[in-house]
Amino acid sequence: MKIRAAVLEEFGQPLAVQEVDLDEPKAGEALVRLAACGVCHTDLYTASGADPTGYAPCVLGHEGAGVVEKVGDGGRGLVAPGDHVVTLFAPECGECVHCLSPRTNRCTAIRDMQGLGLLPDGTTRLQREGEPLRHFMGTSTFAEYAVIPEIALAKVDPEAPLAGCAPFACGLSTGIGAALYTAKVEAGSTCAVFGCGLVGLGCVIGCRLADAGRIIAIDLSEQRLDEARHHGATDTRVAGEDTVEWIREQTGGFGADFTFEATGNVNVMRQAAESAREAWGLATMCGVAGKGETLDIVPRLLITGRRVAGSSFGGVKGRSQVPGLVDRWLAGEIDVDALVTDRLALDGVNDAFQAMERQEGIRSVVEFD
Ligand SMILES: NC(=O)c1ccc[n+]([C@@H]2O[C@H](COP(=O)([O-])OP(=O)(O)OC[C@H]3O[C@@H](n4cnc5c(N)ncnc54)[C@H](O)[C@@H]3O)[C@@H](O)[C@H]2O)c1
Ligand SMILES: [Zn+2]
Ligand SMILES: [Zn+2]
Repeated sequence: MKIRAAVLEEFGQPLAVQEVDLDEPKAGEALVRLAACGVCHTDLYTASGADPTGYAPCVLGHEGAGVVEKVGDGGRGLVAPGDHVVTLFAPECGECVHCLSPRTNRCTAIRDMQGLGLLPDGTTRLQREGEPLRHFMGTSTFAEYAVIPEIALAKVDPEAPLAGCAPFACGLSTGIGAALYTAKVEAGSTCAVFGCGLVGLGCVIGCRLADAGRIIAIDLSEQRLDEARHHGATDTRVAGEDTVEWIREQTGGFGADFTFEATGNVNVMRQAAESAREAWGLATMCGVAGKGETLDIVPRLLITGRRVAGSSFGGVKGRSQVPGLVDRWLAGEIDVDALVTDRLALDGVNDAFQAMERQEGIRSVVEFD
């Protein structure tokens, strides 16, 4: 079929929205009609050429939500036509060594092919004039339709508006999950969140859902700190060189029980590690650092009981846990509308990148007719 899609032709150039060909889903794959797709930093990072693992040409987009139209014959029957789904760049096969462990969401089933921009059988369903066009993060959801592995689709409540489901496909679940599943924030604890974009606000929300006693939000922007307060931060502080010292002062000299980094800046990662509490503080890193950058930590901080964790997609097991997060939104526990600050058509995707560079709004969502 012919579909309209936003193609990354060349790094550093605007995406080109154009018609491409999409083949039928094979066994284990589903055809999804996208209703919405959030515009995430990772799309911009790849489009800019900064991502060392990036490739072009490909169809970008990975924060999708839509409806299953068709399922390839001979699959596992995990989804059916009519199902409302959130796309998962982090799939959940439910069978691999990591899926079988409660400790991680790092499914190994299809990652080698996914990393190459191919579907699990080593081919693409996307083409242009007979030439294969690669998939991005196993999803390629800046498109009217996508063919996606069944294990990379989370079935959600059809009552949930799909534009609001899109942020659960990446940024929002990443933040909430970092608090609930990676850090496992305990009730009554003191948390500090560095960076209040969608991921950091998700951390704030996750800490609130875990009944944290105190949630300190730190950002360079007062406006983002206002957003953090709206989502549950109890204390806010404009970021500076003295942030670590201030957090220690605020916590009887010890530091916060749980800290979260959601900026991608390695200096902020260091602050998050240093402001974690002596004896048991856990610092969770969500941000993606630049190529070749390293995180500098004085080992004594670790010997005295602080721990550092990394979190990919918030440790969320996509098919099992995303539906429950969407339910908490529908139950009124998460204000998704406040996070979706712009809605636009696919042709506006480059404008959304520019707004992101200007730090305007929290999340832009592309909506398809
Ligand atoms: N781990 C994952 O699976 C995953 C998933 C999605 C995104 N990410 C990464 O998470 C990070 C955050 O993503 P986002 O979409 O929320 O980004 P964003 O740019 O919207 O938000 C970052 C926030 O950090 C603030 N900030 C910048 N410098 C700061 C400083 N020195 N101190 C405190 N705050 C500072 C900015 O003002 C901004 O509000 C990015 O690095 C992104 O690539 C990771
Ligand atoms: Zn993303
Ligand atoms: Zn798996």
